[in-house]
Amino acid sequence: MRILSIVGSQRKHGNTSHTVYLLSQKIKNYSHNYEIDSDINTVFLSEHIIRMCKGCRICFNKGEKNCPLKDDLLEIKNKINEADIIILSSPVYVEDVSGLLKNWIDRMAFVCHRPEFPGKSAYVISTSGAGSTKHTLMTMSTALRTWGFSIIGADTFKTGAFMNKDEMKKKYDKRLDKIAGKIVDYYRLSRFLSPGFLALMIFRIQQLYYKKSSEKDSVDYRYWEKMQWLGEKRNYYITVKTNIIKVFFARVSGSIIAKFVLK
Ligand SMILES: Cc1cc2nc3c(=O)[nH]c(=O)nc-3n(C[C@H](O)[C@H](O)[C@H](O)COP(=O)(O)O)c2cc1C
Repeated sequence: MRILSIVGSQRKHGNTSHTVYLLSQKIKNYSHNYEIDSDINTVFLSEHIIRMCKGCRICFNKGEKNCPLKDDLLEIKNKINEADIIILSSPVYVEDVSGLLKNWIDRMAFVCHRPEFPGKSAYVISTSGAGSTKHTLMTMSTALRTWGFSIIGADTFKTGAFMNKDEMKKKYDKRLDKIAGKIVDYYRLSRFLSPGFLALMIFRIQQLYYKKSSEKDSVDYRYWEKMQWLGEKRNYYITVKTNIIKVFFARVSGSIIAKFVLK
């Protein structure tokens, strides 16, 4: 089980890094119990050069390799491709993700058009001073879902301005145990093969968007065609075990939303 932990905090020894570090230790122990080899790597976005998106749309129209910003973006994307699961984490900054993480999400926007990670799953984590972090978790999960990820879960940790590892262990040991168990079980039982309603609905909306597209020679359209995602019998990016009633309602809901969104 290859896991990539992507940390969107500027503080390498801050609350967010501590939380995901403790979680990684627990995942290692839990997977060991099931004789699963776990290989966990961490990317601190703060240690990489990821320039601000200029909004030029070259990644959309000509492909991401033509992006005029030469930095570490594609190297990190390659690391995601090598992983089975990612753990994406951010501190809450004014009720949302940190600017560091948001810029990374923006730079990866071409993956919303050409989902590259179906079959991979993600867990999303935020740490906050005291406030609610629902919006932060939503920013991360929504982006990941549109990139093709299946979301295992999302959790939030109130850590104040700074919580040391011992305090954190004391306060969150059980919660981290539970999350580690959930992540390993998800992998062990191939739960990513059963996408949720929201994931199926997002697929349908994207599918209708490209079916209606008049730009048949665009990079995006060609990608959807090459992946064979445009056929009416396609319910999801990958072949999955699904409940036909769930698929039916997700497709109908997706079609209704698409009617309004894609006018
Ligand atoms: C610029 C900034 C904005 C913040 N905004 C919020 C906020 O809106 N709500 C909240 O509960 N905590 C907020 N916090 C507190 C952090 O989310 C919290 O301390 C977090 O655990 C820090 O993680 P880190 O140590 O990985 O940086 C903010 C902190 C900073 C530095």
